[in-house]
Amino acid sequence: MTEVIAGDGAALSEELQAMRAALFPPVAQKVLRSFSSVEAAKLIGIADAYLRQLSLNGKGPQPTISAGGRRSYTLDQINELRAVLDQTSKGKEYVPHRKPGDHCQVMAVVNFKGGSGKTTTAAHLAQYLALQGYRVLAVDLDPQASLTALHGYQPEYDIGSNETMYAAVRYDDHRRPISDVIRKSYIPGLDIVPGNLELMEFEHDTPRALADHSGEPFFGRVATALGSVADNYDVMVLDCPPQLGFLTLGALCASTGLLITAHPQMLDVMSMCQFLLMASDLLSVVQDSGGDLEYDFIRYIVTRYEPSDGPQAQMVGFMRSLFRERVCTNAMLKSTAISDAGLSKQTLYEVGRENFSKSTYDRAIESLDAVNAEIETLIRQAWGRAE
Ligand SMILES: Nc1ncnc2c1ncn2[C@@H]1O[C@H](COP(=O)(O)OP(=O)(O)OP(=O)(O)O)[C@@H](O)[C@H]1O
Ligand SMILES: [Mg+2]
Repeated sequence: MTEVIAGDGAALSEELQAMRAALFPPVAQKVLRSFSSVEAAKLIGIADAYLRQLSLNGKGPQPTISAGGRRSYTLDQINELRAVLDQTSKGKEYVPHRKPGDHCQVMAVVNFKGGSGKTTTAAHLAQYLALQGYRVLAVDLDPQASLTALHGYQPEYDIGSNETMYAAVRYDDHRRPISDVIRKSYIPGLDIVPGNLELMEFEHDTPRALADHSGEPFFGRVATALGSVADNYDVMVLDCPPQLGFLTLGALCASTGLLITAHPQMLDVMSMCQFLLMASDLLSVVQDSGGDLEYDFIRYIVTRYEPSDGPQAQMVGFMRSLFRERVCTNAMLKSTAISDAGLSKQTLYEVGRENFSKSTYDRAIESLDAVNAEIETLIRQAWGRAE
């Protein structure tokens, strides 16, 4: 029986690798698309006409002009434009990096309900922030490694042993600095700590380490690892597994903001209730042992929301009445654009508008942007920037 399972696993892995090679030829590596001048102007926060004027005046990088006369910019060029604008403009800031003294914001995306939209939320938030010009580290803490897969890696094929977060938190001599396992992504400003099945090892090692009292306790290890590279980033986004294991508890202790994803249906909300009760029990034990559990904010994000569905709308109302401002004002709408993009291992920020009917794309991207902008505002408020 085990041979059958192992054989199926190996066959599937090979097939997936071939599918990926076909999808992203010829080097099977993802690259970020470029952005139309309208998109670029919106990302920078200036009018399209002003952006055109800048390029006519020879200021900043020159866009690529297609045969049809359409101007487009890469994200590197957009970041260059932000830096150019910062030199000339008074008051407004275009490069949004944090200032000395502002702490790096660490967002843990959690819930133990599988499929509640954690990875979708984490990936879109991390990419949104990178597109806005922040320096972002996305960390995959889920052995299923969907976040890693979304960023162009096949976890069991491309990520070797001791190349995940496990390497930086393990208890034995093979522990490595997290800087060794950070990879640059194809999105400027976004780095990744990939995951794969070896992350499970931490769940097995920790009871033994607790019994032996060996080294730093489990709940501080994620924080210590992330802290060692915090100077290089403005924001870190941690995609957690659908369970309250030791790694998730470590993520909860490392974070400055909690994002709890919730699909507004009865079974999901009941499961979230169990999650909250269990998390608070476990965290109070951790806190008594010296774990850090101070958060700048906690937000519930409603995911895969269908506002026309009466029971879902009622459930959102129920959550808002209970949790008030802790429920994000904007919800992540259910959209085939988001799930279709996911099928080709992409976020909606990667696929262009031309791949969908315009109304489907616009509706989905507006809802994603609105949720992410809300989180961005919370981050900036934590840095004392009023907006
Ligand atoms: N807003 C949305 N609209 C449509 N489909 C969505 C949306 N958000 C998530 N999905 C789809 O729902 C599925 C589950 O989402 P996701 O992987 O983000 O959940 P998760 O909480 O990370 O799951 P797990 O607990 O297994 O890690 C995916 O197939 C994803 O494409
Ligand atoms: Mg996930």
